[in-house]
Amino acid sequence: ESIYLKDYKAPKFTVKTCDLVFELYEEHTQVTNLMSIERVDAGAKDLVLDSIDLELLEIYLDDEKLPEKRYVIEDEHLRVLDVGDAFKLIIINKIYPQLNSELEGLYKSGNIFCTQNEPEGFRRITPYLDRPDVMAVFKTTLVADKERYPVLLSNGNRESNFKLDDGRHGATWFDPHPKPSYLFALVAGDLGVVQDKFVTASGKYVRLYIYTDRGNESKCKHAMKALKDAMKWDEEVYGREYDLELYNIVAVDSFNMGAMENKGLNIFNSAYVLADEDSATDANFMGIQSVIAHEYFHNWTGNRITCRDWFQLTLKEGLTVFRDQCFSADLNSKEVQRIEDVDALRERQFVEDASPTAHPIQPDSYMAINNFYTATVYEKGAEVIRMLHTLLGEQKYRKAMDLYFDAFDGQAVRTDDFLWAISEAGGIDLEQFKRWYYQSGTPKLHVDEKFEDGKYSLTLTQKVPKAVDGSEQKPYFFPLKMALLDESGKEIEAKTLIVSKESEEFTFKVEKKPVLSINRDFSAPVIVEQSHNDYAFLMKHDTNSYVRYESAQSFGLQTIESMMRGKPIDEEFVNAFGHILDEDKLDHSFKALLMELPSVSAIMQRQEVVDFELIYEAKERLQKHLALTFKEKLLVIYNENHTPDSKELDALNIGKRAIKNRALKLLSALESDEVIAIANAQYNSSVTMTDRIVALDVLENISPEFSTVALGHFYKKYNRDTLVMNKYFSILAASHREGTLDRVMALQNDPAYNELVPNLVRSLIGVFARNYKHFHAKDGYGYKFVADKIIDIDKINPQMASGLAGAFKIYKKMNKVNKKLIKTELERILLEPSLSKNVYEIVSKVLNG
Ligand code: ARG
Ligand code: ZN
Repeated sequence: ESIYLKDYKAPKFTVKTCDLVFELYEEHTQVTNLMSIERVDAGAKDLVLDSIDLELLEIYLDDEKLPEKRYVIEDEHLRVLDVGDAFKLIIINKIYPQLNSELEGLYKSGNIFCTQNEPEGFRRITPYLDRPDVMAVFKTTLVADKERYPVLLSNGNRESNFKLDDGRHGATWFDPHPKPSYLFALVAGDLGVVQDKFVTASGKYVRLYIYTDRGNESKCKHAMKALKDAMKWDEEVYGREYDLELYNIVAVDSFNMGAMENKGLNIFNSAYVLADEDSATDANFMGIQSVIAHEYFHNWTGNRITCRDWFQLTLKEGLTVFRDQCFSADLNSKEVQRIEDVDALRERQFVEDASPTAHPIQPDSYMAINNFYTATVYEKGAEVIRMLHTLLGEQKYRKAMDLYFDAFDGQAVRTDDFLWAISEAGGIDLEQFKRWYYQSGTPKLHVDEKFEDGKYSLTLTQKVPKAVDGSEQKPYFFPLKMALLDESGKEIEAKTLIVSKESEEFTFKVEKKPVLSINRDFSAPVIVEQSHNDYAFLMKHDTNSYVRYESAQSFGLQTIESMMRGKPIDEEFVNAFGHILDEDKLDHSFKALLMELPSVSAIMQRQEVVDFELIYEAKERLQKHLALTFKEKLLVIYNENHTPDSKELDALNIGKRAIKNRALKLLSALESDEVIAIANAQYNSSVTMTDRIVALDVLENISPEFSTVALGHFYKKYNRDTLVMNKYFSILAASHREGTLDRVMALQNDPAYNELVPNLVRSLIGVFARNYKHFHAKDGYGYKFVADKIIDIDKINPQMASGLAGAFKIYKKMNKVNKKLIKTELERILLEPSLSKNVYEIVSKVLNG
């Protein structure tokens, strides 16, 4: 039941134009689909269209009603027998968007009709050649009740509006750019709108609209600003302009993912559009900026040039993530952005890459393609593009991108075509580099240093893991930024090494033994294995901010690991930590990152056998020790940066909040009345959601008494704002307090909770499954609960269920006791009768890999 890349076959027919009419009603929708189709493969007789759960009413071939003996309805196909070289096909069918809880195809989010067709949703709307290498020109007419659905949208430009006399009205949209069906979208609803405009570099006027539930218009300002910034950035950095008269964004509450780049009509999870200081955190604002840009950038990397097949997904996703990361770095702090991107990669992608669900950024097989919108395809894919950028340098990279756009505009292509453009314009041989596309797992880079007679030599050895199926994999080709520092931290030598062999030596002439600063900017997505004691020096002196951060993390990891082996706390780490607190010239946000202890996930990843109880014990003990030792300094940092009245979103104020809240969180390890009082005061006086959430989180974990009051207040104030309620559920689901599982179970009955809305499920169940303390509790109840939810939710929305199943990806590495408990649950899931292929794929791979 797997689909393989090697079995790819070009389409036998193609669709030139597709004219759609949607008649939207309260119980059902009728779709009339008029396609002009051409045969591409002379040997093909039957036309086979993708079709899932569609009620066929009538079919016409070149205006003749097709008799039933001329077509066959198969499981997921409609087969039209014996067709000609070029013909017109009209299909009329019925669908039930109101009952669609999978949120694929046409569905309702509250009272809004909307669509999600990537990757294979369109076949749930009407029979079609639903594959990205079939590109047609679409024209769409929507007809609906005027009062309930005054706003009618689809791709492209609006052609006409019309009124009918039965209280209904309609609109016709035309998109001149040929596109695959996964980029088709429509929206109908009673929506508020915010308008703006953008004039492109060549002087074209573009109208910008963001649609949202009425009453939320004032929360769209930040998204609109981000959109304009993104449009400008793509012109300046990539020379790419927008290509339609208008750009529509619609925010909906029920959405499986973050957002979707439908041509001219992006549909967004409202969490990535709506924000104001009272309801969104600083991180939310950043997220909005980056997702708005991501979807906009897809217009060139994704829509104008799309994927030949879904194995090529990283062609558009890795590249577009790289583009949005650079955009965010340019508009905010480069160094902080890079550290956060690397962190996100390691938290999620490294875990995936070390599990039986590991796959290359270009997978070679899948059961459910929806399972492959992964951190690997997206984030590791972006790292691979970043390496190409590093190898070519800015100028050649831009030349290569120009060539890519030039050569492939309007086509559905492969990652190989992209690499051809890079190689051609970059003048670089990528044969070995390509392994990043078809090998999986994170390579380790072992570092050996030697200094003798004015010669410093660096021996680098790649340890490439085996593939999931046990086969050997080969060494990679990558750029490794490094420097040698003298005892004052000055760079004696700074270079980008090209690493390509399994083991190789690089030598440098230096007078004194230097200190190595390696994998600067995280220039390659590898795990550096190095044993040394220069961490404290690098934390303090390295000119590369990423390596400074990384050294603090590594030192922290080393310290916690030795505590886990029963050793006392390493006072050198404690001293180095103290030095960071004393540094007063650092950017606040950066300093807040340096003050961060390694995450539980980062510690877990280095354990051969994982036991979260030991990890928590050591980490909490270290945190408490730091809080005790540096209490006064942390209080000074807190007080200096606590400016309760300011809600500005500039770098300075974001930084002040970041560092102050980091200090508060560290101090919270003391669990003292003093800290409780500070957190409580912060909660009561805060004017930003950032401050409020941190205070609530601290109280929840250290003061049942005060948290009950604060949470009660919070709930009363925000229970009608579902985006804020997500945060409320998350705090409770992430809580370390006793009884968390019981509370999570009870919260499922809260009126603000709704199992049909993915954001809420992720906030409550998804966050609980990442609450290592309670999810992995040795009584097994955490596992049982999440397994039950996977089974329940699979019946509603398989994509959401398989997302939750991802929490079990660490199964293989768990200790005996936990492993046995997880096994029972995974086996129970697999016994479910009609399990979706989404959940089956993840669970069977985790269990049997
Ligand atoms: N292309 C979208 C984005 O990256 C994601 C769509 C994913 N959809 C899905 N059903 N898995 O912005
Ligand atoms: Zn994307």
